[in-house]
Amino acid sequence: GAEPLHLLVNGQAQSIEGVPREATLLHLLRNDLGLNGPKYGCGLGQCGACTVHVDGVAARSCVIPARGVAGRSITTLEGLGARGDWNPVQAAFEDAQAAQCGYCLNGMVMQAAALLARDPDASDARIRSELSGNLCRCGTHIEILDAVQRAAA
Ligand code: FES
Repeated sequence: GAEPLHLLVNGQAQSIEGVPREATLLHLLRNDLGLNGPKYGCGLGQCGACTVHVDGVAARSCVIPARGVAGRSITTLEGLGARGDWNPVQAAFEDAQAAQCGYCLNGMVMQAAALLARDPDASDARIRSELSGNLCRCGTHIEILDAVQRAAA
């Protein structure tokens, strides 16, 4: 069989046996590691619901082969922050109540957090363009942009 897959997830070393060649990173995170922060939306890399960080860069886990991230460091929503110790973007989303159904929120938060990590006072235009590829079917973009702008202050 295939070699075990070694990678770092939310700061913890993982060694996972029997990962099929066709398994996606999203599948690995949700089904093997029980991390349900990243969501399955389109499965085609087009909606952003499955966004995680790979070595600090926002990436769409539904189109990344799990075996392609051997040795890399993955951060999911669970690793970004926790109640009482939220990442500033998470705190701002809570303050702004920027959710309706919430399905897109993982992607919005992860995409915005990656942007603010490299550009802490990103302009409104930069935030808007960064999040333009993350789809929200409820039409909550205004509240979401407001939340990220608060975090960027
Ligand atoms: Fe990955 Fe839509 S589920 S981009």
